[in-house]
Amino acid sequence: MGGFDLQSIIDAYGGKPTAQDVAHLNPRFHDLLRLTGLDRRFVEGHGPWLIDDSGRRHLDAIGGYACLAVGRNHPVIRQALEQVLAAGLPGLIQFEVPPLAVALADRLKRFVDRTEDRVFFVNSGTESVEAAMKICRAATGRPGFAHWSNAFHGLTMGALSLNGSEWLRRGFRPLVPGCREVPFGDLKALRTTLEDRSIAAFFYEPIQGKGVVEHESGLLQEVAEICRQTGTLLVADEVQTGLGRTGATLASRQEGVEPDLVCLSKVLSAGTVPVGAVIGRTEIFDRVFDSVERSVVHSSTFRENPLAMVTGLATLQVLEDEDLVRRSAELGRRITAGLKTDSGWATGIREVRGRGLMIGVELDPAAMAFDLPGFGARTPTLVAQAVALRMLETHAILVQSTAKSSSVIKIVPPLVIGESEADLIADALLETLAELGRGRGAAIRGLIDMLSRAPDVVLRETFR
Ligand SMILES: Cc1ncc(COP(=O)(O)O)c(C=O)c1O
Repeated sequence: MGGFDLQSIIDAYGGKPTAQDVAHLNPRFHDLLRLTGLDRRFVEGHGPWLIDDSGRRHLDAIGGYACLAVGRNHPVIRQALEQVLAAGLPGLIQFEVPPLAVALADRLKRFVDRTEDRVFFVNSGTESVEAAMKICRAATGRPGFAHWSNAFHGLTMGALSLNGSEWLRRGFRPLVPGCREVPFGDLKALRTTLEDRSIAAFFYEPIQGKGVVEHESGLLQEVAEICRQTGTLLVADEVQTGLGRTGATLASRQEGVEPDLVCLSKVLSAGTVPVGAVIGRTEIFDRVFDSVERSVVHSSTFRENPLAMVTGLATLQVLEDEDLVRRSAELGRRITAGLKTDSGWATGIREVRGRGLMIGVELDPAAMAFDLPGFGARTPTLVAQAVALRMLETHAILVQSTAKSSSVIKIVPPLVIGESEADLIADALLETLAELGRGRGAAIRGLIDMLSRAPDVVLRETFR
C-alpha cells in the first residue's frame, strides 16, 4: 500500500547539506550560515531547546525570529492540530462564516482587550501589513503612508515600501508611491509629513525589531495625538511585540496608546502554522467592506483555514494557562538584571534595551578592544557576530546579531523558558564578553575564529 513515509524523506535529506542540496534553494544563504556557525543540523526541538545531530542541546534565544512563544512542539498545540485533522472538517468552503474563525476572532479580541473591533485574518506578518495598508487607503481615500527610519514591517512590496533600511530596498524599486520616511522619534518632522493630509496611515513598531530600539517615554502618545489632529490613521505593527513578547498582550498599551489598527502574527502561529491578523476599529473596516460587491475586495485563499485558526486558539489558551505574558515581563527583568553590576552595565555592554523577552544588548566594541582598523563601519556588526558565534560554540545558546551598523545581540527566546534558562543566557553573555574583553588579542582571535570558518566566502564577499 502506498502512503506517506516522513522518516524516509528525513533519512534521505536530513544529513549535512551537500552542494547539490543547497543549490535547490539559496546557496548564498548557506554561505551566511557557514560564517555564523549555524550550518549545523538540528534534529529535534522541545520547548526552548534544540538538539543537534550529535545530541548536543542548545537553548534557542532566536526563537524562530520571535515567533516561538510557546516553544517547539508544545503538547497542547500538537493535541489541537491532531484533533482538527482527526475531525475531518470541511475547511476552505470560502462562502461561509467559518466557526473556527469566529471563535478565534472572539478569543483574540478578548485576549488583547479590544472587544469592539473587527478582525481580518491573514497568513503572515507581512500580509497583515499589506492588508492594513489597503484598509487605510480605502478608509481614508488618501494615497500615502509614513513610517520611522530603521523600521521593519516585512518584505513584500507594500511592507518593503515602509522599510527603513536602504540595503533591503535596493534593487526592488519602484516601491509603492507616496511612502515617506520620518527620522525615528522626530515629532516635528512627523507633523510636517502628516500636515498636508495626504498620508492615510502612520505605521510604527512599539519597539523596533531591528536593533531593539525603543521610543522615548511618552513619545508614542504624542505621535497618536499628531495622527488624531491630522486625520491620519495610527497602525501598530505588533507582529513581533504583540501577544506577550514584551510582557503585555499589546506593547502599545504599555505606552498608553490605543492604535486604530493592530497587525499581529508571529506568536499566534505557535511557530507551527502561519497565521496573522489585523484587528481594528469597526468603522474603519466598514468603510472598506461597504457593500456586497466590496465584501471581497481584500481576501486570500488560505487565510481562515482550520489548521491556522485552531493553532491560534490553542496558542492563546497556552499563553493564558501558563501565564506566559506575566512570565515574559518577569524573566525579561531577570535577564536584564543579570547583565548589571553595582556600578552599571557589565563590562562590554553599552546599553540593554527592550521589555519582557524582547531584549537588545548593545555591545561596547571599544571596551572589548575590538575596533579593527580597515573594517570601518562594519566593525561593530562583526563584534556582535563574533559574540554570537562564541555563545553558540561555547555555551550552546543561539542568539542573533541585529542592526547593520551597531553591535546588538538580540535575545528573543520562547516565553516558556524558566529562571534557570534566563540565568544561563545572562551568565553566558557575561562570560563571553569577559573573554573577548581581555584585550585586543582575544577579540581578534574571536574574529579570526569566525572568518576562518568560511574563508572562500570571506574572499568572495570582500572582492565582490
Ligand atoms: C514588526 C514586524 N512586522 C512584520 C514582519 C514580517 O512578518 P513575516 O516575516 O511573517 O512576513 C516582521 C518580521 O520579522 C516584524 O518583525
